[in-house]
Amino acid sequence: MARVAALLQDWAEARGEHSDEVLRWRSLGFLHDCLRDQDPKSLRKMLPKDQRDFPDNVLHGPAAAYRLRKEGLKDAEILNAVAYHTLGSPSLGDLGLATYAADFLEPGRRLRRKWRARLREAMPQDLEPVVLDILGARMQYLIKDKRRVRPETLAFWNHMLALKR
Ligand SMILES: [Fe+2]
Repeated sequence: MARVAALLQDWAEARGEHSDEVLRWRSLGFLHDCLRDQDPKSLRKMLPKDQRDFPDNVLHGPAAAYRLRKEGLKDAEILNAVAYHTLGSPSLGDLGLATYAADFLEPGRRLRRKWRARLREAMPQDLEPVVLDILGARMQYLIKDKRRVRPETLAFWNHMLALKR
């Protein structure tokens, strides 16, 4: 989480964001995975019915957003970015896209290190193309493995492609 927070802070600073906004970006690094280590069964129970069929590995996002909202966090963009940081969603704005990218590009991840480093170098100026590359790679992985691609993720893909035009 600290590595994701550091990336988000760097990117917000590089974009010339105001110090309050830099803090907001950084805080997402610490918030997005706050329930990652919880048992998926207990996370599933926290969610509304239409989100209970999410696969185990994505439950911690929507569950964390639910918990943070319950604890009094009212920043809708932050809550949305937390909820969709793994699945993606067409509803993500720059902050949500950056969180999606930072979660995938943080330097502690071991697979495809050179590719990840190259994408990190292109951030934050190439935010949308970088997110499209990450999303494409993740969808290819799911398809190769004959796994289901969630409708939120497919909609995210179509949305990111439409932004390219
Ligand atoms: Fe996560």
